[in-house]
Amino acid sequence: MVEKKFLQGMGPWHYYYQVKNELDFALRNKIRWNRPVSLRKSVSVSSILANCNAELNSSTRELVQTYHLDEIQLPFHRDLVEVNLYYLDLFIHAFENLPFDFPNPLTAVDVGPSDWFYLPALASFLNYYRCEQGRELHITGYEIDPYRVYRDFHARHNIAEQRINAFKHIQYYLKPFEGRTNMNDLVFQCFPFLFLRDHLSWGLPKRLFDPEKLLNDAVESLKQNGILLIINQGAAENQLQRSLLIDRGLQIITDFRFNSEFKQYDHEHYVLVVKK
Ligand SMILES: C[S@@+](CC[C@H](N)C(=O)[O-])C[C@H]1O[C@@H](n2cnc3c(N)ncnc32)[C@H](O)[C@@H]1O
Repeated sequence: MVEKKFLQGMGPWHYYYQVKNELDFALRNKIRWNRPVSLRKSVSVSSILANCNAELNSSTRELVQTYHLDEIQLPFHRDLVEVNLYYLDLFIHAFENLPFDFPNPLTAVDVGPSDWFYLPALASFLNYYRCEQGRELHITGYEIDPYRVYRDFHARHNIAEQRINAFKHIQYYLKPFEGRTNMNDLVFQCFPFLFLRDHLSWGLPKRLFDPEKLLNDAVESLKQNGILLIINQGAAENQLQRSLLIDRGLQIITDFRFNSEFKQYDHEHYVLVVKK
């Protein structure tokens, strides 16, 4: 069993964040900032790519076509396109050799989507992966801190809602993850907090830090034979994630460090997949 002390170790600076986050978080949840994003003209993925690369390489063009990325009505910009191609590439790699038949309809949950900047990748992947005509999808996201206000005076949930409106059957719950037992074919945890320092530096109160419970709830919410995909940042986090999975008695069926031609990050990213 991984020592909880290790996960929750407190350095001196943590005490400052502990108090500050408790106050900020309570205030955010009292005010519940809401300033919907006004309708903006959509800009297609291909037009952004055309502006970046003199010549689109054939694998990118294939990705755009296979996953119908140009049908997504959103005001894409360069960063958003790059990050979505990165996540899409990652999902494809993760499922390449997996013993998993995507059901139709498919139910998936994303734990902690933030403002769901990668929703285009997630929804398109789940819709069209090995399914030319597209499958019926029900995707749910649970975000514990949806009222954080960005510099442009929109709250995190407002940005997410703008993205959700570009798709069908997607729900974004403004609350902590609640796993209903045996509900989901797939569960995603993209960069869950395993170290208290990360949880605190993202502005969350210490009392909400319980990565083991979150993992447990995520697994509980899977149907039998369902898949949990986790992305971690850095080797230490990946190592710890592995121990948490093994402690929970789960068998890791895919485990790799991910690199993509679409985007470079400062920290390494690791992918772990388990089957219930
Ligand atoms: C490091 S961020 C990852 C954001 C996004 N998934 C990504 O790929 O970049 C972790 C997110 O999980 C959210 N979170 C943490 N605990 C949660 C919980 N119990 N339920 C729902 N969301 C949670 C945080 O508020 C934050 O938005």
